[in-house]
Amino acid sequence: MIIAIDGPAAAGKGTLARRLAAHLDFAYLDSGLLYRAVAARALGEGVSLDDDQALEALAEALRPADLERPDLRAPAVSEAASRVAALTPVRQALVDFQRSFADSPPGGKGGAVLDGRDIGTVICPYAICKLYITATREVRAKRRWLELRERDPAAIYDRVFNDLVVRDERDETRKDAPLKPAADAVIIDTSALTADAVFAQALAIVEAARPG
Ligand code: C5P
Repeated sequence: MIIAIDGPAAAGKGTLARRLAAHLDFAYLDSGLLYRAVAARALGEGVSLDDDQALEALAEALRPADLERPDLRAPAVSEAASRVAALTPVRQALVDFQRSFADSPPGGKGGAVLDGRDIGTVICPYAICKLYITATREVRAKRRWLELRERDPAAIYDRVFNDLVVRDERDETRKDAPLKPAADAVIIDTSALTADAVFAQALAIVEAARPG
């Protein structure tokens, strides 16, 4: 069973996806980490974010250790990830890994939860359960800002808000796999919901979609 969870940044999909995976004993893939890892390697190795070919080669050569880098959530990496994610060759290079994770979850698990921007539309359009998790920009920026402030007390809300707007727009308007709900996704707006309430709603939808 594949559960596809898409939505914009800081909508709460990562928290939900991890919790669902733990509850159901499914494997979990945060697909954003793949784009972040390509971006972090590009920044670290001085690869231009306009060099499609070099970025494609980095995406093809990703190693498990790249997904464990401590800098993957740094603001510079977030911005670069959103830029490399707009490049078709990079996206193409990451499709097979995501699909095989979904189709044959590691550890012999009975299912997989994948979160991202295009899981329900492009990577696993055949997923049996699709959720689209969203929230207002203000709520999402505030959540991201509070998160960042734990690591960097100087984080500025307006800057976080503006970065989010730029990333949203890039994700929504790119040619390849733009961010949008799949036609058969259930949309949950988490703006006024606690994480527990989101989980309860999502679990009810998953249980209803579960075969047998
Ligand atoms: O989800 P997260 O914010 O970690 O993703 C980092 C970036 O990777 C996003 O800004 C988005 O542009 C891109 N992404 C994507 N498709 C996915 C997952 C992430 O384009 N499935």
